[in-house]
Amino acid sequence: MSTREYDSSAARIFIAIDHTGMMELIDQIMTLRKAPGTDPAKISAALDELVETTRDHFDRESDIMSCLSNDDAEAHRAHHRYLLTALTDFADATRSGQGALSTDTAFDLDTWLMFHVQHFDAKLVAISDLKG
Ligand SMILES: [Fe+2]
Ligand SMILES: [Fe+2]
Repeated sequence: MSTREYDSSAARIFIAIDHTGMMELIDQIMTLRKAPGTDPAKISAALDELVETTRDHFDRESDIMSCLSNDDAEAHRAHHRYLLTALTDFADATRSGQGALSTDTAFDLDTWLMFHVQHFDAKLVAISDLKG
């Protein structure tokens, strides 16, 4: 996405669609984890899909940030790396059978993305909207 082609309404839509898809995946995984007798491989597969979806989404947001002059772009990207690492570690632990069905893990999938969306991403959308 070059600066000349920048379209803030497209950016807003991409981000909203991505977030909706990620929230739906999180809901699916939470439901699978709560359901008795769920095949752990099914949870692992859904987590792997969330990792890939998240990686793609973060790349898209990084491209958007490259078109804007927002002061916290590096902090935003650093928080993406932190979230992706935490999710990947959780997916790996689940695959190896450590804590796949545990509810007392330090990693809380329910809140994993929320702070980021409400702070970093909300600010990114606001800055993007100002660019027009
Ligand atoms: Fe973000
Ligand atoms: Fe986001």
